[in-house]
Amino acid sequence: MDTTDRLLGYLKQAEGRFVSGQVLSGALGMSRAAVSKHVRKLRAEGYGIESATKKGHRLTAITPRLVPREIEAALKTKVFGRPEIVHFDRTDSTNWRAKGLAVQDGAEGTLVVAEEQLAGRGRKQRSWFSPAGMGIYASLILRPAISPSGAPRMTLMTAVAAAEALIRATDLPVRIKWPNDLLVGGKKLGGILTEISTEMDAIEYVIIGLGINVNTPRESFPPELLPIATSVRIESGRDFSRSDILAQYLARLEQEYEMINAGRFDRIISRWKALSHMVGQRLIVEELDQRYTGRVEDVEDTGVLLVRDDNGRLHRVYSADITLVGG
Ligand code: BTN
Repeated sequence: MDTTDRLLGYLKQAEGRFVSGQVLSGALGMSRAAVSKHVRKLRAEGYGIESATKKGHRLTAITPRLVPREIEAALKTKVFGRPEIVHFDRTDSTNWRAKGLAVQDGAEGTLVVAEEQLAGRGRKQRSWFSPAGMGIYASLILRPAISPSGAPRMTLMTAVAAAEALIRATDLPVRIKWPNDLLVGGKKLGGILTEISTEMDAIEYVIIGLGINVNTPRESFPPELLPIATSVRIESGRDFSRSDILAQYLARLEQEYEMINAGRFDRIISRWKALSHMVGQRLIVEELDQRYTGRVEDVEDTGVLLVRDDNGRLHRVYSADITLVGG
């Protein structure tokens, strides 16, 4: 906790009342001028702080930005987000930034977040709409001791953690669509981009990128996305703290990661099945070289989807675009 965090702590404790410069300088062991310098730093991060002669300083608003000190204040993890939280006001893609850190030995749990992405990426070279100050764009470095064939589990685990964190925080009926979509009412609220680097038959690192449309108003979406995308704000009618949602997600993800490392993926896959309602679902599958309609029979532990097509043939689906259909 740095000095600015400590100052913020005193202001938060005062619950909107003034705290005198004298009290603050005594508590923090620094001059009043130094206190004012830290106040200016907090204002620059977006905190609302009113300062008045003879009265001191009072907190009028928490920053709406996804700054590391707010994420850290809400964080209940041991490892995730602990080595470092790297924050960008604007970057190309947090997954790229996290990869850059991973190749330079960035520690497991290092988190990269951005207010805005200029080249946010989705699966299959698609772009990810990443407007400033509205969504969560976060990428985490993991170094799991599993073989590359286990990598799809990372995506399934992330989908469960993100869906459960969103349900808990917002009460929205979030559902998972295989392999990496978070939906509400059939529209996409978030997505996951898992990228791995392997060495021989071991995983060197995994980057787990999560994008969630949180406080994005309807007017901000490009018209072509409106029929297929949504946000927490559109669905619930109100804004949410992105730091709180992110901290909840990281806490759940860490618990699931511990379960995987303890060989208990079965617990995650059963939650995944419950949150996805995929088993029994009719769907259209579009793979690279074929397209068919069928019904989901199961999801394997490895994350492979088992689909029986309308001609009775069983397909093991590793990677595809799927469209859910009724019936
Ligand atoms: C998808 O649904 O296709 C995946 C979307 C993943 C978007 C996130 S936002 C943070 C991270 N950085 C990126 O460039 N992409 C992921």
